[in-house]
Amino acid sequence: MESPSAPTHRGLGPRQGLLLAASLLTLWSLPTTAQLTIESVPPNAVEGKDVLLCVHNLPGNLGSYTWYTGGKVDYSHQIVSYVIDTQTTTRGPESSGRETIYPNGSLLFQKVSLKDTGYYTLLATDKDYESMQVTGQLRVYPSNATVTEHKDAVVLTCLTNDRGISIRWLFKNQSLLITDRMKLSQDNSTLTIDPLRRKDAGGYQCEVFNPVSSSKSDLFRLDMDESLEEPSIRASNATVTEHKDAVVLTCLTNNKGISIRWLFNNQNLLLMDRMMLSQDKSTLTIDPVRREDAGGYQCEVFNPVSSSISEPLRLDVQSEQNYKGYSVGTIIGSVIGVLVVVALGASLG
Ligand SMILES: *[C@@H]1O[C@H](CO)[C@@H](O)[C@H](O)[C@H]1NC(C)=O
Ligand SMILES: *[C@@H]1O[C@H](CO)[C@@H](O)[C@H](O)[C@H]1NC(C)=O
Ligand SMILES: *[C@@H]1O[C@H](CO)[C@@H](O)[C@H](O)[C@H]1NC(C)=O
Ligand SMILES: *[C@@H]1O[C@H](CO)[C@@H](O)[C@H](O)[C@H]1NC(C)=O
Ligand SMILES: *[C@@H]1O[C@H](CO)[C@@H](O)[C@H](O)[C@H]1NC(C)=O
Repeated sequence: MESPSAPTHRGLGPRQGLLLAASLLTLWSLPTTAQLTIESVPPNAVEGKDVLLCVHNLPGNLGSYTWYTGGKVDYSHQIVSYVIDTQTTTRGPESSGRETIYPNGSLLFQKVSLKDTGYYTLLATDKDYESMQVTGQLRVYPSNATVTEHKDAVVLTCLTNDRGISIRWLFKNQSLLITDRMKLSQDNSTLTIDPLRRKDAGGYQCEVFNPVSSSKSDLFRLDMDESLEEPSIRASNATVTEHKDAVVLTCLTNNKGISIRWLFNNQNLLLMDRMMLSQDKSTLTIDPVRREDAGGYQCEVFNPVSSSISEPLRLDVQSEQNYKGYSVGTIIGSVIGVLVVVALGASLG
């Protein structure tokens, strides 16, 4: 089974799946041997819901119960304990305050979060201080995800323990129209959407059915990230000479459907007649450059709901004079060189 987690951006890691739980048709069958077992009710918990870890086949004559996180009985992992005779509940270091222990040993989690996924161990002790333990698993799946258009893909999985059923997918309460960006597994249990478009945002459900019955999963909400990717600037030359050179600055962006504006030293760029913007404003040409054009340039991409601004690109403008001769640094260096030669000659003579 895939681990539930938010989708990663492509290229940064493996594409991860999102899970959708549909477990309402499930009929839990008790094991035939009277073994101590833990059952998660429901078996596939969605974040924000309540889950009960039910204990089955407890023997009589019990004195107390204690629940622990993980697979070991260890005080540092204690959540809560209950003494039957005195009906006293004691919370341990791992208690979040959302757990309730019942007189029958079952543990209720209120408003489970993804972090509650894991193993839980019950220690039951009888009145002769004989104890037995059992470990069960709690899985919590996300109820929603925020994805980026064009960049992310999602895999929605319909989880069910039922056999002999068919699965169909619902989007915004309607039967999902399968487009060429979508793929269903052979049994319809997984739905892949790749690439994602803005119109894919909304509520998804899966419905499991057989000829006599049907049941829908909880809603899984897919949200689109409205934020824009940060643009960057490329310059034809970041060190130019006044009056002589021209420079072309290009705003690089992968965002679609955006407008661009330019900033100079954190202010809106004032367009001089030496400056020219391309029609989509993605390139700025300054021809010729002047001393006063030196400074930080940024481009900002924006749409009606969001905007993002590039890191500043620093443009250095050299004066014409420096360009004509050696640079200052070079001249000082050669003077020192001459002096050193002179000093050496003096000591030999
Ligand atoms: C234990 O008690 C809780 C609360 O009354 C109940 O919901 C649950 O079904 C019980 N568990 C078992 C195994 O009987
Ligand atoms: C959406 O999911 C995130 C994490 O998966 C969670 O923190 C948040 O509360 C959820 N929002 C709603 C409205 O369920
Ligand atoms: C899968 O879903 C399609 C409609 O989306 C349906 O025609 C088909 O019978 C389903 N297959 C199974 C195995 O459920
Ligand atoms: C979907 O249907 C449910 C009831 O069946 C209703 O409460 C909900 O508002 C509907 N959602 C949309 C988006 O139509
Ligand atoms: C950038 O400008 C400097 C100064 O005018 C010039 O020497 C250099 O050749 C230019 N570099 C490029 C790649 O155009």
